[in-house]
Formats: sequence, C-alpha cells, structure tokens
Amino acid sequence: MPGRASNLHAIELDLFLEALARRHGYDFRGYARASLRRRAAGLAIKLGCATVAELIPRLLYDDSLLPEVLSGLSVPVTEMFRDPSVFKAIREQLVPVLATYPRINIWQAGCATGEEVYSLAILLEEVGLLHKTQIYATDINDQALAKAEEGIFPAKLIEKYTENYLKAGGTKALVAYFSLGYGFAKIDAAIKQRISFAHHNLVSDGVFCEVNLVVCRNVLIYFDRQLQDRVLGLFDTSLSRGGFLCLGTKENLAFSAAANAFQPVDASLRLYRKRQGVPPP
Ligand SMILES: C[S@@+](CC[C@H](N)C(=O)[O-])C[C@H]1O[C@@H](n2cnc3c(N)ncnc32)[C@H](O)[C@@H]1O
Repeated sequence: MPGRASNLHAIELDLFLEALARRHGYDFRGYARASLRRRAAGLAIKLGCATVAELIPRLLYDDSLLPEVLSGLSVPVTEMFRDPSVFKAIREQLVPVLATYPRINIWQAGCATGEEVYSLAILLEEVGLLHKTQIYATDINDQALAKAEEGIFPAKLIEKYTENYLKAGGTKALVAYFSLGYGFAKIDAAIKQRISFAHHNLVSDGVFCEVNLVVCRNVLIYFDRQLQDRVLGLFDTSLSRGGFLCLGTKENLAFSAAANAFQPVDASLRLYRKRQGVPPP
C-alpha cells in the first residue's frame, strides 16, 4: 500500500524534525517538505540508519551528530558569479548608489561554501568599493562555513567560473584573484579581509546588523510561505532606508507580507529597493 508507506514516512519525518527542534533548537518544520524528505532519507543512509526514525535516538543522545545533521539537511550548492546577469545588474545599477555612501555594510545570508560572497567582494574590488565595505556572510551549516572561510577551491572550477565572471562584466582575469598550486586555487587575502563569516539561523535568530544590501539567493526556495515571510521581515528590518535586497531568480516578493516595503529595481532579476518610511510588517 503506497499510501500507508508514505504516511509512515511523513510521520517519521515529523518526529525527526520535532526531536531536532526540541533537543537542539534547530527548527526545520517550516522548510518545504518534498526536498526535506529526500535530504532526511539521504542523511539516514549516510549515517547507516535503515529509516529516518532510526536517526531519532541518535539525534537525542549523541550531540556530536548535530553538525552532520545540519549539513545533511542543508543544500550548500553554489558557484562563483552564479546567474551572471544578477552580478552585472549589481555592478551597473546598485554600485553607483552604493558608491555615494561613506561606508557600505552587506549581509549575505546563506553563503554556503563562500563562492557567492567572494564573487561579490571581487566585484566590489573592481569598482573600487571594497576598501570601504564590510560583508557579513552567514549560514546555518558550520561545515560549509569552515570551507568558505578557507577560501580554497578546486583549480579546475576557475575555468568555468571565468565564463560567469566575464558575463557578469568582470574586467580582469578571474585567476588574478587566486594563488594556484597543487590543483587548488586560494582566494587572495586582500579579497577576504573585508568578509566576516558567522553562524546565523534565519529561522530563529534576529536581525544581524544594519546593512545597505542583503543578498540571499537560493535559500527562501527551501522555506514554506510563512517562514519566507519571517525571513523577508528580518531583511526588511536589517536594511537601512533605501537599502537593496537581492533574491534568487526563482524567489520573489510578490505574495509576501513584505512586498509593500520594497519596490523593484529589476523585477526579473529579483533586485529590490526598500521604500522609505514603510514600517516592517
Ligand atoms: C543552495 S545554497 C545557496 C548558496 C548561495 N546563496 C548561492 O545562491 O549560490 C543554500 C544555503 O542556505 C543555507 N541555509 C539553509 N537554511 C538556513 C537557515 N535557516 N539559516 C541560514 N542559512 C540557511 C544552507 O546551509 C545553504 O548553505
């Protein structure tokens, strides 16, 4: 009976998420179910459990499992200059405004292994703004954050990333921002020095700091509507007046409670600007 099996899987997932929330304070109950179910099943296999239910006692009694669980439930898929047209629009439409500020604060939420935040820092370096910028790059996945902080990537990826970089309006050679050796490419310290990496949970943590730009791409897509609304409210509160919001190409503000607080800069690229004087929802 396929109906009975999938009902049991749903119960197992509910109990697993309840255990994770109550025992460790990480609440994934507002994540979209279909992909969460796949990831929980994958995690069970990886940890040698026959079912998601078998993960529950381990989650309850083995604290050391938590980083693995958070890593298994999150999807740290990313690349440099992903969706190059978005970076091009940031360069052409946001940079002229940001350039007028004495200091620029940026929050990049859901930074995964760092490729996106390093792309942003390279862009800002090329337009002469990095020296007056502070970027906070946050994620829930500590294993991904540790990799991001290292800033070391397989050298073979730089070729593919170069295509994105050039489409994004890059003016030099991407490889110039890395030192190469032993098949790896290490990001230059000069690019890294304006970035602070930190653990931050969009589900339960508060406003990170006051910023001029929030970049959060390909994260809301994993959340249900209610959680999306919470997070968009958080971004609204974090942004200074006239601040910019950059979402992923499959995400948008259209039906959210925060929609009125923003006006599109480029709706198709999911670039928005906070309106002046609209209180957060
Ligand atoms: C698909 S990646 C997106 C990476 C990057 N923003 C990009 O677009 O290339 C999604 C990231 O969101 C993070 N994430 C998921 N839930 C989160 C939460 N509650 N708080 C903070 N980050 C979260 C995941 O750990 C993962 O690194």
